[in-house]
Amino acid sequence: MKKNILKRSWAEPYKIKMVELLKVTSKQQRVKALKEAGFNTFLLRSEDVYIDLLTDSGTSAMSDRQWSAFMTGDEAYAGSKSYYALEQTIQEYYGYKYIVPTHQGRAAENILSQILIKKGDIVPGNMYFTTTRLHQELAGGQFKDIIIDEAHDPYNEHPFKGNIDLDKLDALVKKYGAKKIPYISIATNVNMAGGQPISMQNLKELRSYTKKNGIRIIHDMTRVAENAYFIQQREKGYANMSVKDIVLQICKLTDGATMSAKKDALVNIGGFMATNEWDIFEEARNLVVVYEGLHTYGGLAGRDMEAIAVGIKESVNDDHQKARIGQVEYLGNRMMNLGIPIVKPIGGHGVFIDAKAFLPHLSQDVFPAQTLAAELYVDSGVRTMERGIISAGRKANGQHHYPKLELVRLTIPRRVYTQAHMDVVAESTAIVYDKRHSIKGLEMIYEPKYLRFFQARFKKLT
Ligand code: F0G
Repeated sequence: MKKNILKRSWAEPYKIKMVELLKVTSKQQRVKALKEAGFNTFLLRSEDVYIDLLTDSGTSAMSDRQWSAFMTGDEAYAGSKSYYALEQTIQEYYGYKYIVPTHQGRAAENILSQILIKKGDIVPGNMYFTTTRLHQELAGGQFKDIIIDEAHDPYNEHPFKGNIDLDKLDALVKKYGAKKIPYISIATNVNMAGGQPISMQNLKELRSYTKKNGIRIIHDMTRVAENAYFIQQREKGYANMSVKDIVLQICKLTDGATMSAKKDALVNIGGFMATNEWDIFEEARNLVVVYEGLHTYGGLAGRDMEAIAVGIKESVNDDHQKARIGQVEYLGNRMMNLGIPIVKPIGGHGVFIDAKAFLPHLSQDVFPAQTLAAELYVDSGVRTMERGIISAGRKANGQHHYPKLELVRLTIPRRVYTQAHMDVVAESTAIVYDKRHSIKGLEMIYEPKYLRFFQARFKKLT
């Protein structure tokens, strides 16, 4: 008998119970909508969008179990049982001792930055994230990038581009002294690098270095389960360990965390701050009352906390991650086969197009990634976002940051779109790629003070 050598494909470990109908628009309608949105995909109305790959944040589909949990939410102002359910889940799955819920990730970043950072402090981290760095700066700190150089090269196929360069860290510690460094800011599955993981080995080395020098590790655990899946697939010694166990092991190597539950944890809103230190917890409970709400709800409804608790459990399921990342890889591979320049390896939460290579005739000053996101929308109604010079913002001296990576992010919501949607997305990028030489850049005509990428407006260059 002939040996069957066909591979077995992944498929979703769920079926669809309810669908959300989409509006299909004409090109003429999209040209008009984009102009009204100032060529910024953040300013489009979502009903004018066909396939929404703006973000994986708060856009995932909840399961039947999460919706059922909604009905069990305890909406008591104080001491809600839903808070205790969330606390217990976080302690069990992530291992942190003390928890303060917040309405989303940046609220946790605000509180933690205010507690730990003093004016003049240095916060090293594995590449910046927009809101995280802003809160570090608003608290008086200065972010320093200590990610490995490979992370800044879109084509370097290093399996762990989220790794820390310990020499860069050591140079900072020698220059400023450990006392000026309240913590190292570690993101799992680094968003701005293209959804790239940090290895367990690197994290262990960082842990022993920081122990020696008395510095904390604070974990941005927004996409920790996706990082854990990559460790399982790529790192020696982890092939037989579950995503659940790897997640817990990662968290145990750190001292506290901020979390946007809107990603990994499969909910539309929510987050938390976690710490293993009583003093930090006590101060966080003081601050959360000022900014969010009582410490047992932190800006969330009881039902939200129930849904997060269920979502955390679903997020560490191996089959879930295999299908989730499998879908991202499916899109990435299709785009690569069509010749589109994308960041390699393919990331965990999206495919990132290298806009500098896609539009080599445009300088970074005319915003190639912003331009490309606008063109993709006009072609097919697919909404993506810029992750380049606009997202990077300005330095203290008013000059633009010029990041090496000028990317368009096609972010895949979890459990929302089908493989056929992914085909349309890939085909649309190929059509835009074919006419790339005729594409001109943009000029910024309105720039907000903070996080400008959200609300900036542009005009087409002719
Ligand atoms: N950290 C990371 C790594 C993130 O990706 C985000 C949000 C946050 C923190 C902030 O969390 O939005 O709940 O306040 N990222 C979204 C995105 C906005 O589209 O990448 P939040």
